[in-house]
Amino acid sequence: MFFRQIKYRGDNFSYIIADEAAGEAVVVDPSFNVDAIILVLKDQNFNLKYVIDTHGHSDHTAGNEELRSAFHSKIVAHKLSHVNKDIGVVDGDIICVGAIKIKVLHTPGHTPDSICLLTDGKLLTGDTLFVGECGRTDLPGGSAKDMYNSLLQKIAKLDDNLEVYPGHDYGPFPNSTIAKEKQTNYTLQNRTLQQFIQFMQTP
Ligand SMILES: [Fe+2]
Repeated sequence: MFFRQIKYRGDNFSYIIADEAAGEAVVVDPSFNVDAIILVLKDQNFNLKYVIDTHGHSDHTAGNEELRSAFHSKIVAHKLSHVNKDIGVVDGDIICVGAIKIKVLHTPGHTPDSICLLTDGKLLTGDTLFVGECGRTDLPGGSAKDMYNSLLQKIAKLDDNLEVYPGHDYGPFPNSTIAKEKQTNYTLQNRTLQQFIQFMQTP
């Protein structure tokens, strides 16, 4: 599997996942990195099948339309997303690129439409989980209660060996693992729902 993390402009991470044998690729969160993404896609001669948005915030969806028109790709986002999408997905859906399967996990909290993407030992976490941090819940549509369920009841219960690839370069490292985050990320410490809500409200 071809996997590339790209940070070209700003601190947003974009991702290219591709089946090299099939020549098919997806881009996750084009953000402001489209120029760098197109260089890789052309260099590798990949056909860009899907653009997947981890949520609808503009710093992640910037570049959607440029990629759609350049490659005739389909835009994929959670069905609750206001993104101008071709395909709406829900929890448990599988997105196929060549022989690669990408599983959708619905992880609301930062936004109602936030998703994480699970493929080949890797979890792309968008703005739900960062290295050493979690996403804000004080923006429109945010919910500390939903974030608690997504982080503590869902993500923290996944395989410890999964590699974590976040939507922004906010931490000391560009990627991590579930085990490392459970040990070191203060947002994943053992808390009750009430304690977590209070924690998220404390500046
Ligand atoms: Fe966001």
